Amino acid sequence: MEYLLAIESTCDESAAAVIRSDGVVVADSVASQEDLHAPFQGVVPEIAARAHLQKLLPIIEVVLRRSGIQPQQLAAVAVATEPGLPGSLLVGLCIAKALCVAWSKPLVAINHLQAHIYACQMGRSESIYPCVGFVVSGGHTHLYRCHTPLQWEFLGGTIDDAAGEAFDKVGVMLGLPFPGGPQLSKLGEQGDPAAFEFPRPMLSDQNSLSFSFSGLKTAVRYKLYGSGSQALDPSLIPTQMKANVAASFEQAVIDCLIGKCLLAIRRSSEARLCVGGGVAANQRFRTQLRRACELANIELLIADSKLCTDNAVMGGLAWESLRSGMATDLGIDICAGLVR
Ligand code: KG4
Ligand code: ZN
Repeated sequence: MEYLLAIESTCDESAAAVIRSDGVVVADSVASQEDLHAPFQGVVPEIAARAHLQKLLPIIEVVLRRSGIQPQQLAAVAVATEPGLPGSLLVGLCIAKALCVAWSKPLVAINHLQAHIYACQMGRSESIYPCVGFVVSGGHTHLYRCHTPLQWEFLGGTIDDAAGEAFDKVGVMLGLPFPGGPQLSKLGEQGDPAAFEFPRPMLSDQNSLSFSFSGLKTAVRYKLYGSGSQALDPSLIPTQMKANVAASFEQAVIDCLIGKCLLAIRRSSEARLCVGGGVAANQRFRTQLRRACELANIELLIADSKLCTDNAVMGGLAWESLRSGMATDLGIDICAGLVR
C-alpha cells in the first residue's frame, strides 16, 4: 500500500493528512486560526499567512507521527495551489516544495475547489463521477459539470459575494462572533424563517446559473438598521428580531442554492449532484436539499460535515493525479484567482 502527505493552506485553516492509495485516511489534523481573525470579524490575509508559517510544520509532524509513516514511505507530497489567499497559498506551496526536495518526493498540485467536490468521494468505493459539482463556501458558490475528478467545466457561480461570505457579514450585523455561518444558523433555530420575505436574487431567472448575495445582504442591513448610514449596534436589536432575521436570511440563501442546483441538473445530462464547501455543513441546507433531490429523483451526495470546511483529507484527490500520470513541476507557482 502507498501513502501520500496532503497539505491545505488556501485560507485560514492549516491542515495536513496522510492518505492511503485506496482512499483510507491514516491520520489528519486541522489547526484553526479562528481566534486570530475573530477580533477583525473576518480573515486578515497577512495574519493567515503568518499563522500558516507557524502552524503548518508542527501539524505535518503530528500527522506523520500519528500515522506511523516515515517520509521515505511516502509516494508524494500534495498541496492545494489554487485558488485562495496568495500569502496562504505561498506558505503551503513553499513548505511542500521544501519537503519534496528534502525527501526526494514528487509534488502534486491540487485545485482546492475540485478537492471540495472530491470530499464527497472520500470513504466511497464507487466513483461519484460524472456529476454536477457544487462548491458552496466562504470564498465560492460555484457549479461545475465534473466529467472526472480532474476534468470539469464551469456552469455558473456568484457574481458578487459567496454564500458563506454573506453568512459571515450578516453574522457581524447580528453581533455574532466570526465566523458567522455556524452561529447564525444556531440563532436561526429560535426564529421564524417566514418572518421576513427577503429577496431571492436571480432565483427566478431560469436562463442563468448565477448567484448573487450582496443585495440580500443589504436587504438584511436595511431591515435591522434602516437605510441610513448609522453605525451597526446589534445590542439595540431585540433578541427575537435577531433570531427571525437569521432564520429568514438563512432560508433565502438556501432557496437560492437549492433552486440553482436543481436547474444545473436539469440543464446538464447528469443525474448526480455532489456538494462540498463550508456552507454545505449547514444542517437546514442539507435537510432541504435532500428533500428537494428526492422529489426530483436526483442522486445527492453531500460531503461528510467535518469534510465540508477546509481540511487536508480531501487532498486524496492527489491520488487521481498520480494515477493519471500528471506530474507537477517543482517550479510551479500558486494561482490565487479562479480559472474557469
Ligand atoms: O470551505 P470553507 O472552510 O472555506 C472556504 O474555502 O471558503 O468555508 C468557510 C465558510 C465560512 O463562510 C463559514 O461561515 C461557512 O463556511 N460555514 C457555514 C456553516 N459552517 C461553515 N455557513 C452556514 N452554516 C454553517 N453551518
Ligand atoms: Zn475551501
